[in-house]
Amino acid sequence: MIRAMQDRVPQLVTTIAGLREAVAAARRAGQRIGLVPTMGALHEGHLSLVRAAKRECPCAVVSIYVNPSQFGPKEDLAAYPRTLDADLAALSACRPDWVFAPSNQEMYGRDHATWVEVGSVAQPLEGVFRPGHFRGVTTVVLKLLNLVQPDAAYFGQKDFQQACVVGRMVADLNVPVTIRVGPTVREPDGLAMSSRNRYLSPAARQRAVVLWKSLQLARRLVEQGERRAETILAGMRELVATAEDVQIDYVALADPQTLQPVEAVSRPTLAALAVRIEGTRLIDNCLLEP
Ligand code: PAF
Repeated sequence: MIRAMQDRVPQLVTTIAGLREAVAAARRAGQRIGLVPTMGALHEGHLSLVRAAKRECPCAVVSIYVNPSQFGPKEDLAAYPRTLDADLAALSACRPDWVFAPSNQEMYGRDHATWVEVGSVAQPLEGVFRPGHFRGVTTVVLKLLNLVQPDAAYFGQKDFQQACVVGRMVADLNVPVTIRVGPTVREPDGLAMSSRNRYLSPAARQRAVVLWKSLQLARRLVEQGERRAETILAGMRELVATAEDVQIDYVALADPQTLQPVEAVSRPTLAALAVRIEGTRLIDNCLLEP
């Protein structure tokens, strides 16, 4: 009961002018401001970032915006779940101060012609399979950072490369914000929470655990002393292939700073993979610590 009384649907703002006004008041009050950028269809992974933002910043802003410019022409922009009412209800227990949910018109005026493109870390892995994706992400994230001017912005480790790309962008463009990366939140069987999991049929959902199993295998092999990337990758691919109708985009072992492939796991190494199950593309990763 007490909890229900404390929970409050967060205040929704849909215009840039309204958002600027809201955060200006917090800034005038000397409050630290945290931003959690999302595309909605919120799950526990997002909520854990909102809780972290709220712990560290008296003023927490969550943006909910399905950003068209980060979807390729054959990707799931039209199908992407838009669940604003449920998102607001889910957020009420985390008590963010503001939710910014703009329209496309508000975010990209008709004449929008400026894009932010990160090199190096944006190129391998997702960059190969989703050309233009990170250009859309960095453009919208920089816009959000400019609008909110937060002290800290929160991203999930599940999108490890995205966090690296955003980190590179803010360093290169001298954006005064701290990028915080929260741990991947998993279902009880290990599947990383993702808004796209809801596309999966019950059978595909069961098979999706193969991503986590292959990462666990990589961890086990490293624990047992295996260091050769080729051997670890072969084991991971073999394991993924045991699941019916699962196509691999990539399985990779990479340097967690540069995202370039490594030949041996001699330092902390990123294990990452992207697979398609019944047309749904899922990604996951973990750090291997030899
Ligand atoms: O991770 C996401 O949901 C999106 O890529 C982000 C960071 C909100 C930008 O649209």
